[in-house]
Amino acid sequence: MSDLPSIRWGIVATGMISTWFVEDILLEWEGKRVNHVVQAIGSSSTQKAQDFVKNNCPAQTPKVYGSYQELYQDPDVDIVYIGTPHAFHYRDCMEAINAGKNVLCEKSFTINAKQAREIFDAARRNNVYVAEAMWVRHRPLYQELYRLLHQEKIIGDVFRVFSDFANGVDPASLPASSRHRDLTLGAGSLLDVGVYALTWGRMALGYQKELPQIVAKQTHEEGVEITTSAILQYSSGRQGICTCTSKALGAPGEVFVVVHVWKKQEGAADRAFFPREACEGKKYDFPQIGRGFVWEAENTALDILEGRKESRVMPWEETLYIMDIMDEIRAQGGTCYPGE
Ligand SMILES: NC(=O)c1ccc[n+]([C@@H]2O[C@H](COP(=O)([O-])OP(=O)(O)OC[C@H]3O[C@@H](n4cnc5c(N)ncnc54)[C@H](OP(=O)(O)O)[C@@H]3O)[C@@H](O)[C@H]2O)c1
Repeated sequence: MSDLPSIRWGIVATGMISTWFVEDILLEWEGKRVNHVVQAIGSSSTQKAQDFVKNNCPAQTPKVYGSYQELYQDPDVDIVYIGTPHAFHYRDCMEAINAGKNVLCEKSFTINAKQAREIFDAARRNNVYVAEAMWVRHRPLYQELYRLLHQEKIIGDVFRVFSDFANGVDPASLPASSRHRDLTLGAGSLLDVGVYALTWGRMALGYQKELPQIVAKQTHEEGVEITTSAILQYSSGRQGICTCTSKALGAPGEVFVVVHVWKKQEGAADRAFFPREACEGKKYDFPQIGRGFVWEAENTALDILEGRKESRVMPWEETLYIMDIMDEIRAQGGTCYPGE
């Protein structure tokens, strides 16, 4: 038996992300600090929950429930992981929190900032933990990049950032019931992947305190937002150009930091040129463990075990900051969800 402290997860929904998350938390790896137990699976059907166990965690013996509510009532679940489509995050978080459960909920945390504020108020009232599962922020690569850019200042003051995320799902090619196509499930590229473009952009600009001024455009296909471009302008003049689309794939790989060094040309004060010799670049390697959700799971488990109510990595104010920006982008872009 492991000497590590244990955390018992209740997994809500048996879709793609729940599969990835469960596979990762069960990995053995050097540096692991918590023993993750899959305590229960909640699904819209008992059969789906049983299949999920068979396919993804056969060595575990979780309870299987044909509803989410039963899982929230299970006293042996320490934290609920919510992997439903965006439009259900509000309902599922509220029900879990009101049942007294700690919650880690997938991104985007909610459809709008109002829902997120209500969830945080409910968590405060019930004295439980809740965090948005913004997994990239937990990754060593992301944290090291922040350190290099803003503590070591390897490229000086970051004045302008381009950040793009494209998932290439092409909603029109999917069934009408897909979460990428169905507005009642929260379909749209901004909530799905634009949240990442904004997250990377926010970090690369050094977590500016003020909310930026925003100029945004969105494209829709069959009523679903498929492409977003937003310029975020800060009072210092810094700009983030954040874009996303579900129509095409982005560049391969995960993160590129491209730095252009411009030198003044001698005798031509108004000209600059790009010295190719200055462009050698430096490659940083980071550990690849599973699909990369292990750090999020570890940090969340440690938060719970140490009695925190908010994530150290993804505090409530960070979720709200990004949600407020997405609300404004959608207001300018003309994207509205049922019930708004
Ligand atoms: N962090 C990441 O890298 C990452 C990657 C992909 C997705 N996500 C996020 O995870 C969430 C789910 O995405 P996904 O790709 O896993 O979705 P998915 O494969 O469609 O699975 C969603 C699950 O939600 C449950 N559900 C409940 N009501 C539903 C309804 N009316 N229609 C469809 N499903 C319903 C279903 O599980 P049951 O029938 O078992 O209840 C379904 O399997 C989204 O918020 C997404 O942004 C995050």
